[in-house]
Amino acid sequence: MSKLWGGRFTASTDSFTDHFHSSISFDQRMYKQDITGSIAHAAMLGKQGIIPMEDSLLLQKTLKEVLEDIDNGKISFDEKAEDIHMNIETILIERIGDVGKRLHTGRSRNDQVALDIRMYVKEEIKNIELLIKELMEVLNNLAKKHTETIMPGYTHLQRAQPITFAHHLLAYVEMFKRDYARLEDTYKRTNVMPLGSGALASTTYPLDRAFVTEQLGFDSYTLNSLDGVSDRDFCIELLSTLSIIMMHLSRFCEEIILWSSHEFKFVELSDAYSTGSSIMPQKKNPDMAELIRGKTGRVYGYLMGLLTTMKGLPLAYNKDMQEDKEGVFAAIDTLKMCLPVFTAMVDTMEVKKDTMYKATKGGFTNATDAADWLVKQGVPFRDAHEIIGKLVLYCINNNTNLDDLSLEEYQAISPVFNKTVYDAITVEKCVEARNVPGGPSKEYIASLIELNDNYLKTI
Ligand code: ARG
Repeated sequence: MSKLWGGRFTASTDSFTDHFHSSISFDQRMYKQDITGSIAHAAMLGKQGIIPMEDSLLLQKTLKEVLEDIDNGKISFDEKAEDIHMNIETILIERIGDVGKRLHTGRSRNDQVALDIRMYVKEEIKNIELLIKELMEVLNNLAKKHTETIMPGYTHLQRAQPITFAHHLLAYVEMFKRDYARLEDTYKRTNVMPLGSGALASTTYPLDRAFVTEQLGFDSYTLNSLDGVSDRDFCIELLSTLSIIMMHLSRFCEEIILWSSHEFKFVELSDAYSTGSSIMPQKKNPDMAELIRGKTGRVYGYLMGLLTTMKGLPLAYNKDMQEDKEGVFAAIDTLKMCLPVFTAMVDTMEVKKDTMYKATKGGFTNATDAADWLVKQGVPFRDAHEIIGKLVLYCINNNTNLDDLSLEEYQAISPVFNKTVYDAITVEKCVEARNVPGGPSKEYIASLIELNDNYLKTI
C-alpha cells in the first residue's frame, strides 16, 4: 500500500516501523469525531469556494456512509495507514477517487488530531459528569435515611466525637460537588476549536473558522496556530480532575474496607459487590472497593505520564504527542468502570446502625462534651480538660465509660459535678448540640440535604 505522504520517499517503511508508529489500534475509537470534523471541514471548503460545491457535497455524503459502515462493523482498519485520520481518508479515496483527495485541503493531521481529541474529551466529560451526579444522588438519598444514625467521627483513626452517618456521607457529596465543578471547568477549556491551525502556521486558504466552530458545537476557536496544534493542557487538566475523583473514591473505599472488617462491622457489602476466598470459607472480601482503590494508582500514573511527555517538547507538534491518547482513554475507561460500581456498592450496602452506635458510646467520644459541660459550670477549659482526662483514665482502668459512672465517682474527681452532666453527655446530645452550619445536628444536616437536592436539580 502506498502512503498518503509517500511523495518524497523512495523506499517504503519497514513493516516493524509501521507497527511501531501506528496509532490505529487505539485512536480508532475517535472515528466518529474524525468523520464529524471532516464533514464540517468539507462543508466549509465548499461554502468558501475552496473546492467545488459538488465535491464538497459528495465528500460529506461519502463520509456519512463511511461512518455508517464503521458503526455497522463493515470496515476493518489497516495498520499501514497509520492512524484513524489516514485510514478514513484512504477509504474515502478508494470510494470516490480524486474528490476524496480534496478533503485534506487547508488542513493538517496536526490540527485534525487536536480537534478529534477535543471532541472526544468533551463528550466523555459529559458522560463522567452524569456518573458523578448519579453518585451524589445516591449519597444524598442515603443521607436522608441516616440523619439520626450516630457513629463515631475519627481523627488519627481514633474515635473522636459523635457524628451521624449522614454527616459522614455528605462530606463526600461536598468532594464530588467540587469534582463536578472541576469537570465543568475542564470542559470550558476543551471547548475551543483548533482546526485552521494547519500543521503549525495556519493556512493560505480563506477558511471560515467561525463556521466550523459553530457546526461542531464549539464555543470559540484557538487564537494561535502554534498553540492550537501543540496544546494538550485540556488532556492534562482532565487527567488531573480524574485523579482527584479517584482519590476521593479511594478514600471512601478505604473506609468501606475498614468498615466491613470484623473489627468495625459498620457496614456489610451486598453479595453482588463482594467475593469469597478460594481457600478460606468464612471470607467475604470487599474486592470491588479494593480494586477501585488500586486503580487510583494507575490514573495518577497517566497524569504523570502525560505531564512528563509534554515537558520537553519544543513548539509545535511532535510525534511524542501521539502518546497522549492511550492514557487519556484508559483514565476515562477506568472512571467509567469505577464510578457505577462504586455507586451501586454504596447503594446496596447494609448499614449496621447498632454497631456504629455502640462504637460511639464505647469510645469516649463524649469527652469533649463532658469538658464543655464543666466549662459551662464556670471551670476554665484547661482545667476541665484535665479533669475529664483523669475521669477517662479512671474509666479505662475500671473498664467502663463516662455515661456509666456514678455521681460519687464523678464527684470524687471534681466536686463541681452534679446529675445534669448525664443528660449533657449522651451521644444524641453531643450531636444535636453541634447545630452550627457545617455540623452534624439533624436540623443542619436536613438543610444541607435540601440544598444538595436543589443543586442536583440544576446540574
Ligand atoms: N497519529 C498522530 C497523533 O496521534 C496524528 C498526527 C500526526 N501528525 C504528524 N505530523 N505525524 O498525534
